[in-house]
Amino acid sequence: MPSVVPKHIAIILDGNGRWAKKRMMPRVYGHRHGAFNIEKIAKYASSLGVEVLSLYCFSTENWRRPNDEVNYLMKLPIKYFKRYYNKIVDNDYRILFSGRRTLISEELLKDINNLEENTKDKKGLIINICFDYGSQQEISDAVLKIHHDLLKGVIKEEDVTPNLINHYMYQDLPLVDLMIRTSGEERLSNFMLWQNAYSEFYFTDVLWPDFNEEELDKAILAYNKRNRRFGGLKDETKNNN
Ligand code: IPE
Ligand code: IPE
Ligand code: MG
Repeated sequence: MPSVVPKHIAIILDGNGRWAKKRMMPRVYGHRHGAFNIEKIAKYASSLGVEVLSLYCFSTENWRRPNDEVNYLMKLPIKYFKRYYNKIVDNDYRILFSGRRTLISEELLKDINNLEENTKDKKGLIINICFDYGSQQEISDAVLKIHHDLLKGVIKEEDVTPNLINHYMYQDLPLVDLMIRTSGEERLSNFMLWQNAYSEFYFTDVLWPDFNEEELDKAILAYNKRNRRFGGLKDETKNNN
């Protein structure tokens, strides 16, 4: 068991399409398996004492994919919540959503609102589902909200600090400690540019549907070997969360 458990783990769930292709199946088959892999990882992260798990499930750029795939991805969370709703609510999880809420269907929005409302007092793992999420969009939305609040006098110019900006993000969460991307790609693809300011990056070739408890252990182990300096000097701030 690794000694320091990151408080906030963010994962770019990538490689569903390639996972399906390897099995000569359509891409959506990979998405289905990818979605049903979330429960296992959430359960394990929760057992380790992780406080926040952010999951990148659909990006603002993913609308560029073929209609059939986009339609499937828009319906997948609805199917998923139908199957797991009671389990999620009976658990100690708190569910949050980060992303635009203007383009998704009313049905999905209703599920999102219900889940957020019905888990808002839960004290366990926060699962932050990033859906129709794009970090540049999030930052521009925050800039606009800050601008309005400055005009209305809700906040003053001197209040505008990094802490306040964090508060204007889709969710006011601690910054990411460990950022994992599966499938071998080594880029952020517009994921949490603000929140990843000082996170440790871990890339693995494992495709998301195959990512399991053992793989999460490996990522946390790698994290434990990093020396987090936050601009200070070596060892002083080793892994301080
Ligand atoms: C990640 O898997 C899931 C989403 C982006 C929705 P991909 O669909 O990107 O899978 P690959 O990268 O094509 O294998
Ligand atoms: C990033 O994966 C988005 C999600 C995992 C939801 P993509 O597969 O869309 O990213 P690119 O296009 O390879 O950068
Ligand atoms: Mg991909």
